[in-house]
Amino acid sequence: MPSRASVKSSNNLSLAVAQKETQEVCIGPIAKLAWKGLDSSAPFAAVKLSGRAPVVLIDKRVQTLWADAIKASPLFKEAAEKNQMLFLPIGEASKTLPTVETTLRSLARMGVTRNDNFVVAVGGGALLDSAGFIASVYHRGLPLVHVPTTLLAMVDATLGGKTSVNFLGNKNQVGSFYLPALSIIDPEFLETLSPDHLRNGLIETVKMAFLVGTKELDAVSELIADVLAGDKDAAEHIIQQGLRIKSKYISEDMYEDMSDGKTDKTKRCHLNLGHTTGHAMEAIYGGRITHGDAVGSGMLVAAEVARELGMLGKGTDTALTSALAACGFMLPQVQDPAHLAHLLWGSIGTDKKVKGGRVVFVLPLAPGKVEMAPVGMETFTAAALRVFGN
Ligand SMILES: NC(=O)c1ccc[n+]([C@@H]2O[C@H](COP(=O)([O-])OP(=O)(O)OC[C@H]3O[C@@H](n4cnc5c(N)ncnc54)[C@H](O)[C@@H]3O)[C@@H](O)[C@H]2O)c1
Repeated sequence: MPSRASVKSSNNLSLAVAQKETQEVCIGPIAKLAWKGLDSSAPFAAVKLSGRAPVVLIDKRVQTLWADAIKASPLFKEAAEKNQMLFLPIGEASKTLPTVETTLRSLARMGVTRNDNFVVAVGGGALLDSAGFIASVYHRGLPLVHVPTTLLAMVDATLGGKTSVNFLGNKNQVGSFYLPALSIIDPEFLETLSPDHLRNGLIETVKMAFLVGTKELDAVSELIADVLAGDKDAAEHIIQQGLRIKSKYISEDMYEDMSDGKTDKTKRCHLNLGHTTGHAMEAIYGGRITHGDAVGSGMLVAAEVARELGMLGKGTDTALTSALAACGFMLPQVQDPAHLAHLLWGSIGTDKKVKGGRVVFVLPLAPGKVEMAPVGMETFTAAALRVFGN
């Protein structure tokens, strides 16, 4: 891995994730970062981790692809030398209770304790979710560090402390809220990421930027081609912007309990823009559609729903379509759009709360302006036909 300049102080973020909690983030090359140097860049994490030894839980594919860089990094040297590294199944396969149990057994066999160790989770969003859950339950919680290796994990999954595994066929059904003390983000990892997974992260950043406004959407759109061309500075920019936006959305209500009666419940739900239809697309297409393309399709359907309701701002569809196109977004080829619309509505109905035959959608009215509205089957079908019928 080519070495880059050492971490600049501006690359260290301290982001609000809950009303009284912050999560520290260091963006820089793993080749140059060391646990000992954290005091100035991540002072809270440094205190939490001090005197403890790292135990590394890593996605097997990432370990295979990045073995040399990991061996050479001061962050992983000690764990590698002491055999304190566990390799978890690739991607989503790590988010299972059997993997959790196997890993807990290994931690116990290795004599890992709460006072002596911390967990370093290295991988995409799936690995972070699973390893985070393991860290949260072993000895009632070991300090946790994330090293996200996909763009989606860097801009999204690493922030906010949601951990989970899939259970009984349901995604993320078992989990906890457990904040990492620190996220270490090295955009260099993106070099080996597949185009599909890069697109997943880019489409997520487009969604976040759209929520904030035209300026942010334009800024992200301008950087996308550079990120796709492998420009790490552009990637770092996009990651920082995505993290800042997510932080704003979750910090008032990290635990999603909304129980104080004062918190604006709708704001956090805005992060689900495109996900209502997107999840249904993933359920119907299975592995034949990427998460990014499913969410992108979902955003376009939501925009058409807004049009049906007379709420879509002028130029919004063009702004969304061109930002998505820049990411390489692909709308699936649909033989029978009416049948797909029917299946989608059925799937949304089993996933979401349906009240009086309507489902609440997040609607993109204009960059920086989204609204939640209950939507009936006819409106949804008309919107879906416009998106998938061409
Ligand atoms: N906790 C949260 O807030 C949150 C937010 C968003 C998504 N998620 C979860 O994240 C998961 C999706 O994350 P993802 O898109 O990162 O997928 P992923 O973790 O499944 O990784 C995708 C694939 O890329 C591989 N990979 C990882 N890093 C790589 C690299 N640098 N080079 C080459 N290959 C690499 C993995 O082995 C895997 O095969 C889902 O399970 C989702 O539920 C969680």
